[in-house]
Amino acid sequence: MGILVTGGAGYIGSHTIVELLNSGYEVIVVDNFSNSSPESLRRVSEITGQRIMVYNMSILERDGLEKVFNENNIHAVIHFAGLKAVGESVAIPLQYYQNNITGTLNLLETMQKYNVKRLVFSSSATVYGFPESVPISEDFPLSVTNPYGRTKLMIEEILGDLFIADNEWSISILRYFNPIGAHSSGRIGEDPKGIPNNLVPFITRVAVGELKELTIFGGDYPTKDGTGVRDYIHVVDLALGHLKALEKTVSTPGVNTYNLGTGKGYSVLEMVEAFENTCGIKIPYTIAQRRPGDVAVCYADPIKAKQELGWGADKGIEEMCRDSWEWQAKNPNGYEVNIKNIESPHLSTSGDFLIKVNSI
Ligand code: NAD
Ligand code: WQD
Repeated sequence: MGILVTGGAGYIGSHTIVELLNSGYEVIVVDNFSNSSPESLRRVSEITGQRIMVYNMSILERDGLEKVFNENNIHAVIHFAGLKAVGESVAIPLQYYQNNITGTLNLLETMQKYNVKRLVFSSSATVYGFPESVPISEDFPLSVTNPYGRTKLMIEEILGDLFIADNEWSISILRYFNPIGAHSSGRIGEDPKGIPNNLVPFITRVAVGELKELTIFGGDYPTKDGTGVRDYIHVVDLALGHLKALEKTVSTPGVNTYNLGTGKGYSVLEMVEAFENTCGIKIPYTIAQRRPGDVAVCYADPIKAKQELGWGADKGIEEMCRDSWEWQAKNPNGYEVNIKNIESPHLSTSGDFLIKVNSI
């Protein structure tokens, strides 16, 4: 069964493709590498021993999308492609709306034209805004505080309208909590450009000696130790959630929304301690002002995904820290050092490479 994975070279996409290939799916990727490297896909191919068809193009390119649907037998789409940095979205909102919204509309229109009506979409717990209580279930009120979050909420609404208009569509909206960790091989992982925005990539960069110390944003939240609490989920558990959602979309029409989280909350200080204990490295930190827009506590009620998808997160916080560290320690410069080994992301390659990168 052919699955189109948009944004497949990114952090969550690359881990999901490993699981798709291991489960016998055929994978076609569309990625413009705006926030990733083709090296991630080369390594996915190496881990799984399987070939991936890769198109180096943006979902903003309508003709390119047509070519992809024409050239491949696509049964369903997992749509990861999007810009995701909250702060950046405040600075350049039009680029976020253009990329995330217009890109998704292009994709949906092309899917409709080719009668491919099965979709798994990457949404985010950010659509819950400032939740009134925890754990957060899918029927909580939705609100957003920044353009990035607004793109996710708008797309969720667009998908709802699409199903009302044509109930042959089958759509899973997945609201991720805080994905961390990496594949146990240490070959693929999260590779943020520049200084990381997110907690765990920041911690691992401190651990590897690239950054001096962690700044903890806020020590006066109404939480167990004053620092913010989040639901961290191992990226491989998250990836497996996509396979379950895919099975659901293939078997049942409708629009269904699921939280993908563990249901457990850890504070920033607990995360620092867990990392130090698991990896044996001291993480120096200072406690500073709260980061604007941050909520005090956010964790999922994951019961709906358990009941309807038969999915739940298995991996604990130690495994998450260990795998994040394993990836960072083995790849102190992320994918960068190896990128020159790829002849050119714009040329079709064969023979030595299991991935074939097509330029549109
Ligand atoms: P990522 O940036 O690592 O991956 C996104 C991929 O999409 C990248 O490879 C990027 O090059 C590609 N891309 C962006 N715009 C594109 C375009 N116009 N055409 C083609 N490719 C494009 O991010 P990720 O962490 O893997 O996140 C995947 C999805 O999950 C995103 O939609 C993100 O908003 C969502 N999400 C992520 C998190 C998180 O904390 N990582 C949490 C909730 C939701
Ligand atoms: C976690 C905790 C911070 C960095 C973000 C997006 C969200 C989703 C996931 C895409 C908070 C604290 C962090 C640092 C710190 N992404 N922190 N020092 O904010 O829960 O969610 O990523 O959809 O939309 O907003 O994740 O990892 O940035 O922060 O103290 O240098 O760590 O204040 O309490 P967040 P995070």
